[in-house]
Amino acid sequence: MREVSFHLASGRILGIVGRTGSGKSTLSRLLFRLYDPQSGEIRVGNHPLPTLQLRSLRHHIGMVTQEVQIFHASVRDNLTLFNSTISDEQIKQALVEVEMSGWLATLPNGLDTIIGAAGEGLSAGEAQLLAFARVFLSNPGIIVLDEASSRLDPATEHRIEQAIHKLLAGRTALVIAHRLKTIQRVDDILLLENGRIREWGTRADLEKDPNSHFSRLLHTAPASDNSIANQPELATDRD
Ligand SMILES: Nc1ncnc2c1ncn2[C@@H]1O[C@H](COP(=O)(O)OP(=O)(O)OP(=O)(O)O)[C@@H](O)[C@H]1O
Ligand SMILES: [Mg+2]
Repeated sequence: MREVSFHLASGRILGIVGRTGSGKSTLSRLLFRLYDPQSGEIRVGNHPLPTLQLRSLRHHIGMVTQEVQIFHASVRDNLTLFNSTISDEQIKQALVEVEMSGWLATLPNGLDTIIGAAGEGLSAGEAQLLAFARVFLSNPGIIVLDEASSRLDPATEHRIEQAIHKLLAGRTALVIAHRLKTIQRVDDILLLENGRIREWGTRADLEKDPNSHFSRLLHTAPASDNSIANQPELATDRD
């Protein structure tokens, strides 16, 4: 990534868009300190990341990646990530938030049910909802959501939308958005291209500007398709 400079005010939601390989996930991994930039600086609340304790930083940021990791362990351990201070009541409440309590009711041993490695028996959408439940339980102030681009059935899609809505309320968030519905929720847009910023502004301003790439992206997204991934408007000038 080069010459990337932007500010996200507390309580705002930034939507990050750009074609595959443009650097969207990289940006989220830099914030979570899965690796550090070779030059430049990222600050949270004006504190440079290396001055914050890693554990504290990761405690305050809830990260939902494109691929959800489900462990061969009980539902409880999968949701609490082995934090035994979280009560079963809290876990059940988090499952209610993501509309997965019906799913819990079908399990033979409730929260003690062992779910398979790689999430056997779970649909991609259900795995996403469990990942959201994890974030509800850790209750971080900052959310990084790298939305999965997998196609979901309309009912699951609806549950995901509802869960994202609740998850983002009252938090600061960076959302790598693949769904139009998610994009419509964000305050600001950062359009990346080849590791650089192509556009950055409020969603309202970019939507209004007929010459913005973002507005053209919205207009080229087929109405029948809820996904904005790899729209022609995201193509680089070279293509
Ligand atoms: N650890 C790494 N070291 C070197 N290059 C990397 C590393 N991780 C990713 N890249 C490269 O950086 C570029 C951006 O990758 P990134 O995963 O951020 O893309 P993305 O915008 O999230 O794409 P997608 O929409 O497909 O998820 C890609 O060319 C990728 O191959
Ligand atoms: Mg990515």
